[in-house]
Amino acid sequence: MPIQLVTTVAGLKAESARLLTSKGGVSQGLVPTMGALHEGHATLARTAVEQNDVVVASIFVNPLQFGDAADLDRYPRTLDADLSLLEEQGVDLAFAPSVEEVYPGGQPLVRITSGNLGDKWEGASRPGHFDGALTVVAKLLHYGLPAAGLPGGAADSAAGRLPAYRAYFGQKDAQQLALVRRMVADLNFPVEIVGVPTVRATDGLALSSRNRFLSEAERDAALVLSRALRLLEQRANAHEPLDLDSALALVESQTLVSLDYFDVVDPVTLEPLAENCRETPFRGEALALIAAKVGPVRLIDNMPLNS
Ligand code: PAF
Repeated sequence: MPIQLVTTVAGLKAESARLLTSKGGVSQGLVPTMGALHEGHATLARTAVEQNDVVVASIFVNPLQFGDAADLDRYPRTLDADLSLLEEQGVDLAFAPSVEEVYPGGQPLVRITSGNLGDKWEGASRPGHFDGALTVVAKLLHYGLPAAGLPGGAADSAAGRLPAYRAYFGQKDAQQLALVRRMVADLNFPVEIVGVPTVRATDGLALSSRNRFLSEAERDAALVLSRALRLLEQRANAHEPLDLDSALALVESQTLVSLDYFDVVDPVTLEPLAENCRETPFRGEALALIAAKVGPVRLIDNMPLNS
């Protein structure tokens, strides 16, 4: 089926309700994006299509989560290509609102605060980023909520049967995913958050909309990030000490790479697991986080560690 494009919240609500009813569907999935879509987003969309009767993808470059106006202007806008990619995955509806549609009164006075989970790692380098991201995610989750009583009308509504509602986020943005899960739990949003594993190029580079800004030499240099993460993964799988320092030395040996942070953290609180990762054999679950500038491009990556 060709994908439908809507640009207003009213259009999104009406079309998603119509689709859910016409398909006799019982579940709706939302894939929030900022466009400039790549295979990583395609995987999010495909997962949503496999798990839901109706799938909506939003495409909105959210000004609230950019600290720097130049960065916001530079963000790639590729609507036609994005719509084709979403259609190929079987997404039913694309929601591409204007800034005025999402923030009709200008920037919102009241916002979601990401607290100390949002102040560290990415948050330390990009102040206000996660407050802006969570604020728009909260709005998008409300917009995508399937209407009560669908598809069985009043009978389902009376019986308390609501369509299932799921939203899909990439594990590549590990801190964002942890924060969205925390917001949904802390503020009782009626949605299941599904984390989808990072998609990598065959040489290991995590797919990102920013990779298009890397020169060939920078792209080669950027591979050190995933190599360092893989080193930790291998050691974790072998129950060896993670020896973060040697992985760190590997990253620092690459002159085009300027490291911001590299650490092993608790996957829920994102607090460093110092003791578990240096001399003692690794046990349990952790997340290795890395961020660096490669030439002018800031990249992030991470690796879940389980043993
Ligand atoms: O991950 C992103 O693309 C954005 O942060 C999101 C979740 C769409 C909010 O603008």
